[in-house]
Amino acid sequence: MTKKTDKSNWGSNTVLAHAGNNPQDYFGFVNPPVVHASTVLFPDSATMAGRNQKYTYAIHGTPTSDALSEAVDALEGSAGTIIVPSGLAAVTIPLLAFLKTGDHMLMVDSVYHPTRRFCDTMLRDIGIEVTYYDPLMGADVKSLIQTNTRVVFTESPGSNTFEIQDIPAISKVAHDHGAVVMMDNTWATPLYFKALDFGVDLSIHAATKYPGGHSDVMLGLVSANAQNLARLKETQMLLGVCGSPDDSYQILRGLRTMGVRLEQHGKSALEIAQALNGMPGVARVLHPALPDFPGHALWKRDFKGSSGLFSIVLDGGPDQAKWVGKAHAFLDALEIFGLGYSWGGYESLAVHAHLDDRTIAKKPSEGPVMRLQIGLEDSADLLQDLRGAITAANEIT
Ligand SMILES: Cc1ncc(COP(=O)(O)O)c(C=O)c1O
Repeated sequence: MTKKTDKSNWGSNTVLAHAGNNPQDYFGFVNPPVVHASTVLFPDSATMAGRNQKYTYAIHGTPTSDALSEAVDALEGSAGTIIVPSGLAAVTIPLLAFLKTGDHMLMVDSVYHPTRRFCDTMLRDIGIEVTYYDPLMGADVKSLIQTNTRVVFTESPGSNTFEIQDIPAISKVAHDHGAVVMMDNTWATPLYFKALDFGVDLSIHAATKYPGGHSDVMLGLVSANAQNLARLKETQMLLGVCGSPDDSYQILRGLRTMGVRLEQHGKSALEIAQALNGMPGVARVLHPALPDFPGHALWKRDFKGSSGLFSIVLDGGPDQAKWVGKAHAFLDALEIFGLGYSWGGYESLAVHAHLDDRTIAKKPSEGPVMRLQIGLEDSADLLQDLRGAITAANEIT
């Protein structure tokens, strides 16, 4: 029977529930098989010589990795998505793909710290020049473009401090000068920011976070538009990096519920951010959906929602020597929030963000920055936990 559904009109939760695999391809089972594989057999020498069949060797893809890549393409509107073992690999592989010795790149100053470390070590060692730029610069990045600028890297909101970048303006400048635009889009996911529609060429995700959603798997995804896919895939093959079938399956499983989870993370995070805004002991709340946040207008223009990660700046007082003590008192008083890195899982986490690497987007001057990952617990319980932690920090005088 021919079905006439126009999938292009599907809402994002319908796409999440159905994209990526057709149950009829595998005996009607709802989920795709987890194909553990290296070798794929060919029926005869001619097929082998021409590599003339869909699958040839597991590094090039399996039914499991295809199901995940196709689901992500349906969300991103991308021509193809590569799967790599971590979010950090999803940053480093596209950079290696599009940069060579003698090239220059623009890197946003509020970037995830390990991305910066990669630029300042491996990329510099192979002769790539990196200029950090102010996350609040839009079209003005033009002043930093050089004849050899090949990549403009963005991350919006910025890590820990949540600066919102003017992605369409930056993309236009980059494209006018022939540079490729990459974006670490982990915070928003394609549900809240469809990066390729705003001019980004390569959308990068730590699938470890919201797509996984349960703090039990690491994976990275890079989705490319048609012009840039071949080069991205070629580099992935040259380096021999691919995600495992079990991890790919777990991420596809996570995607099915990501819409409802993200909505709850976002709702609780915003409620808590609003409650903390102006509370004694809290100097500032860094959350793009708060109307008094500097990037709010841009966020409202471009994003469809806010996820569950934001920061608060504690009121540190005049004596900076006490700030670490306050940050630790805050962390040690928490009972529900765990102390741990990463985010996007079902459980709440808190971390003291150091920000000492910044050269332009300097750290807040009022006190220590505490990054909060709001999980799926009841927000009233989380708020109470945070109130106790703020009281403990206030007691350090
Ligand atoms: C913005 C951002 N990008 C990338 C990553 C790296 O992801 P992974 O932990 O999967 O390597 C992280 C991890 O915290 C992150 O916060």
